[in-house]
Order: sequence, then structure tokens, then C-alpha cells
Amino acid sequence: MNKVLYRKYRPTKFSEVVGQKEVIEVLTKAVAYDKVAHAYLFAGPKGTGKTTVARILAKAVNCELRKPGEYEPCNQCSSCLEIMSGKSLDLIEMDAASNRGIDDIRALREQTNFAPSSAKYKFYIIDEAHQLSKDAAQALLKTLEEPLSNTVFVLATTEFNKILPTIASRCQVFHFKRLTRKEIILKLSKIVAAEGIEIEPSALELIASVSGGALRDAETNLEKVISLGDSNHKITLEEVKEILNVPDIDLVIDLANSLLAKDFKKAFEIIEEVKNSGKNFQDLLPLLLDYFKELLMLKIAFENAEELIELPLTTEQIESLKNQAQNFEESYIRKIIEILLELESKIKNTSFPDLAFQVAILKLKEA
Ligand SMILES: Nc1ncnc2c1ncn2[C@@H]1O[C@H](COP(=O)(O)OP(=O)(O)OP(=O)(O)O)[C@@H](O)[C@H]1O
Ligand SMILES: [Mg+2]
Ligand SMILES: [Zn+2]
Repeated sequence: MNKVLYRKYRPTKFSEVVGQKEVIEVLTKAVAYDKVAHAYLFAGPKGTGKTTVARILAKAVNCELRKPGEYEPCNQCSSCLEIMSGKSLDLIEMDAASNRGIDDIRALREQTNFAPSSAKYKFYIIDEAHQLSKDAAQALLKTLEEPLSNTVFVLATTEFNKILPTIASRCQVFHFKRLTRKEIILKLSKIVAAEGIEIEPSALELIASVSGGALRDAETNLEKVISLGDSNHKITLEEVKEILNVPDIDLVIDLANSLLAKDFKKAFEIIEEVKNSGKNFQDLLPLLLDYFKELLMLKIAFENAEELIELPLTTEQIESLKNQAQNFEESYIRKIIEILLELESKIKNTSFPDLAFQVAILKLKEA
């Protein structure tokens, strides 16, 4: 591996983009029917494909070999190659965070008075657009008010609510979504196959689970695991836990199971174990609460509940969570959550957190 994974596996055409279905549908139609807008606003969490899609769009629009009605860039013509190597004069990327001055935008306005150098359209990608200074944003607004026929602005932001409404209203807005675990697993699987890396499926699933819906983070985490893991054998779940510093969720699950089953003997044992191993009850409790929160979400069949799970769970553990959601009453899960929430403040103010824990869970006897 001589190139960081997330760059090496950056999609080069629309069909390689994972998820973001609505965005891709509308953009590919716009390219195919020659109906590209003057300004786009790509909003959404980090590492979900905003910059990637902006570059593909620029490439597709300017591709010299693309036939009418088609939407994919060829990735072979000189225009495509120039954009891919970052040398194109028709694709200018600026980071609003570092290029905040009004002069930059003014300069940009002057530049937009020139026709594109070779290709049909000149693209300006403005990253972190919410960080443009007030003056710079005003200058940009003027530019958007009098668009040139051969210029396309793509503003990208992770904080849509900080974009001036006057700017947003002049852009075609696309909301990029966090990628689902399944989507992330799919792409990671392709990468490990292409790289010839052997890894346990559960280990890959865990990497997807801890990446917060951002593919870049997932790919960076995978890279970390590959470079720090023992290359003499298949990468294991345990290795991933250690390298990515994933909290020990097994203990949380065991404790949750014993509470659900009202197995107080087992629960007490686990609490003693936590105490003796020097682990912190204040770290354990939020994870336990997360577990029951997710159980409750599954129970009430909250939309996308499975995709919203934030705990670092493997697919097998998620299946078991789903079973529990079926097998236990909502009122009982709620009772456990109430008891744990009460416990939260108590645990902070006592030198006997283990005892506070044990007393609290005995209340479940009556539930
Ligand atoms: N939807 C996606 N499909 C496939 N790969 C993706 C996707 N989103 C992100 N990636 C991977 O993550 C990398 C970073 O994505 P990109 O730069 O497009 O994210 P971004 O949304 O612009 O993030 P940021 O807000 O941090 O700028 C890409 O090079 C690619 O490897
Ligand atoms: Mg970006
Ligand atoms: Zn091309």
C-alpha cells in the first residue's frame, strides 16, 4: 500500500459512490440531459462523499468522450485525467476555512469573467462553505446572483444551518447522509478483497460500527488496523478492539443480559468483576444506557433503528439485540432505563459505586 486507502479507493465515477442514492439520481440526470445548475450546495456529515461527488460531477460535465445522454466520466480523456491529477484549470478547489478573505472571493469573481481554459465549464468547489467570512459570503452572493453560463459553484458544508439562507436559496441543495453499517461493510469488504487482506468478518463489522457513518473514517480505521495488526495471520476481532481502542462491550452485554433475565447473582458477579479489574463505573453506565436505549428503539420499531445503533456491535450482537427487543416488554425495558438514569447521579457522588449499582438493580425484582 503506497497510497492512503481513502484516496486510493475514492470513487472515480457516479456508480462507485456508495449510498447517497437521491443525490446521485438527480445529478446523473442533470449531466445526461445537460441541465447542470449554476450552484450546488452539498450538505452533510464529514466523510460521506461531498467532495468526491463534486469532483465526479466536474469530470463528467467536462469529459471529452462522454456522449450525449450518458452521465459517467470516461476517466481517460485529457480533461478527466487533468481533473484526477489535480492539475485542471477548470476545477478550482478552495477551503473557506483557510481562504476566508473577501479578496479571495473577489479574485474569484474576476476569474469567473474569463471563459474556462479548455473545457466547457469551470467548477469552483468551496469546502467548509459555512466558514466563509461575512464579506466573503456577500461577495459570493453577488456572484451567485449574476451567474455566468459556463461556471458551476459547488459549496460543501458539514454545517448546513450556518449557511446564509440567501446563499442556500440560490443553490440546488443536496443533503448527504451518514452511510449505513451495511454500506460501509460493503465498501470495506471490497477494499480488503482488492488488497488481499485477510480479516474476520466480525472484525470488519466492528470497524464499520465505530466509524460513525463516515466512510473516510472507516477507511482510515481499516488502514490503521492493517498497518498495526499482525500480518502473519487473519486480522481478528480482538485485534481491532485493541487497535481502535473500542470499549469492552462484551461486559456491557453480559450485564444487560443478566438484568433482562433478572439474574441478580450473575449481575452482582459482573459488578464485582468491574470493581476488581479497576474499571470505572462511570464509563460503564453510559454504555449500558446506550444498550437499553437501542433496545427500546428497536422495540418501538423506530424508523431505521437498526442503522442508528451507535454502540460498537458486530452483526451477531445486533441480531441478539433484535431478538431481545422481541422477547421483552417495553414497560420492563423502560423500568430498567429509569433505574439506570436514577443511578447516574448517585454514582457520581458516592465512594461506593458498586454498592449503588447493586442496590439499584435489585429494584428490578419488583418490576
Ligand atoms: N459515499 C461514498 N462512497 C464511496 N466512498 C466514499 C463515500 N464517502 C466517502 N468515501 C470515501 O471517503 C473519502 C473521503 O470522502 P469525501 O472527501 O468525499 O468526503 P466529504 O464528504 O467531502 O468529507 P468532508 O466533509 O470531511 O470534506 C473518499 O476518498 C472515499 O474513499
Ligand atoms: Mg470534503
Ligand atoms: Zn473523460
